[in-house]
Amino acid sequence: MTDTRKSLAELGIVDAVQLEALFAALREEFDRAAAEARDGTEWEALRVAWAGRKAGKLRQITENWLKPAPPELKRAVGQHLNELRAHLEATLAKPPQAGAAAVAAAEAERVDLSLPGIERYLGVRHILSQVLDEIQQIFLRIGFTVVDGPEIETPYYNFEALNMPADHPARDMWDTLYVETPRPGELLLRTHTSPMQIRWMEEHQPPVRIIVPGKVYRHDNPDATHAFAFYQVEGLAVDTDITFCDFRGVMDYFVKEFFGPKVKTRLQPSYFPFTEPSADVYGSCFVCEGAGCRLCKQSGWIELCGAGMVDPAVYGFVGYDAKKFSGFAFGMGVERMAMLKYGINDIQLFFQNDVRFLRQFR
Ligand code: PHE
Repeated sequence: MTDTRKSLAELGIVDAVQLEALFAALREEFDRAAAEARDGTEWEALRVAWAGRKAGKLRQITENWLKPAPPELKRAVGQHLNELRAHLEATLAKPPQAGAAAVAAAEAERVDLSLPGIERYLGVRHILSQVLDEIQQIFLRIGFTVVDGPEIETPYYNFEALNMPADHPARDMWDTLYVETPRPGELLLRTHTSPMQIRWMEEHQPPVRIIVPGKVYRHDNPDATHAFAFYQVEGLAVDTDITFCDFRGVMDYFVKEFFGPKVKTRLQPSYFPFTEPSADVYGSCFVCEGAGCRLCKQSGWIELCGAGMVDPAVYGFVGYDAKKFSGFAFGMGVERMAMLKYGINDIQLFFQNDVRFLRQFR
């Protein structure tokens, strides 16, 4: 607190700059005291302390600073004193309402229990995990088992045992990434999940009903519909009396479960070295319901997966009797399924991990 009972000389004030600081400090002291006054009694005490006629600070300043001030400071002291007085009078003219400060303090701490809380974002499973799960559940319901296999494969499983000998032109259907090994060409990143057909049949006798979800790799340039790593779900069913009708029925069941009961299926002749006959499975366009739109390129149909009856030649590689057993296989792209189902137009979105994209799928 500035002691207004001492003279300027005693306070060590000798020039205008010091004087200005002195009055600024005083004004601050007053403002602080005014802000702290809670009720009428305290306000009156404040008034007496500062503006009291007999011993208020204004009075003391007049007596102890102004009157004995050296001539060169006198004018400035007078001016500062007048300003301070005007400020005090203006402030003291508006006493706080009884309890106003207390009310304001309580108001600031008030909790409105009716306000909705701040939502905490918990995170979601990646949309691909969700779709993979859904596909698996659909097949589990009709007796398929989920198995998985290695992503690094040998050309034997990826090609040869799938009825594609070395230099078979059909190997070009998959742009293959090879692993660098001492003898080049020994290992590759599987280009599809079909190698697991072979691995499973090598070790198990029919009946076979498996699906194989997993990552596959292709030497493709990334764009809106291509990625060098993506997911597939392979399916394989082999038994003594499996017909093309079973194949068709299972495809139809899956498509209706996954995309909705209104979606129809259609098979179109295709070619894979390990299926005979081969078919591409199409679903009727679920956007335009067959009328023709951008998604189905005006055809009314959307390609969903490659499939077919297992080629008897494949049974030769796993020691099955091709006269006794028959079956079907299919392979679908998981990203493609998700893109179709949720209207996603760029496959790269799955891998960029932009939370604004991922959060949409709760
Ligand atoms: N493996 C094939 C592909 O990736 C798909 C397929 C699987 C076709 C099973 C027929 C039978 O293109």
